[in-house]
Amino acid sequence: MANIEIELEVNGRQEQVSVEPGKTLLHLLRENLGLTGAKDGCRSGDCGACVVIVDGRSVNSCMVLAPQAEGSSVMTVEGLAQGDELHPLQRAFAENWAFQCGFCTPGMLASCYALLEFNDNPTRDEIRAAIAGNFCRCTGYQAVVKAVEQAATELRVLKGGSRNA
Ligand code: FES
Ligand code: FES
Repeated sequence: MANIEIELEVNGRQEQVSVEPGKTLLHLLRENLGLTGAKDGCRSGDCGACVVIVDGRSVNSCMVLAPQAEGSSVMTVEGLAQGDELHPLQRAFAENWAFQCGFCTPGMLASCYALLEFNDNPTRDEIRAAIAGNFCRCTGYQAVVKAVEQAATELRVLKGGSRNA
């Protein structure tokens, strides 16, 4: 079957890509754009290793066909840092030992980023709910929850306000 030309924005850059109609967004990112942060885990929407942010929402990119992403704005873990400056979430993950092997981490970060975009002061239960679809076999999740709380606090300070301040 003939390839399809699609246009989408990825990490702030406009991209034009020619893909097979059955290709997933995950494989477009990894194979066509060389963005290998999002991981190819289960390919069935179960593990969350492939999570990226599409138009502000966290999605399992293995469950989205690339042509469905036409016109979308996609953010991957590669879009979090600004040059050499890690995003507060990335720093908090490192400081709290919120990863070990790191396979789940790009998806975990994407889910947490999407959470903090619409809720800058999440409860522990809200954080747990946000990462419910991200499987981690190393950390036991507590360190991730702590990291998100730390990052949320830092981001609120950076924004100059807090609901609980
Ligand atoms: S690879 Fe997409 S959810 Fe597991
Ligand atoms: S850090 Fe290894 S799976 Fe999460």
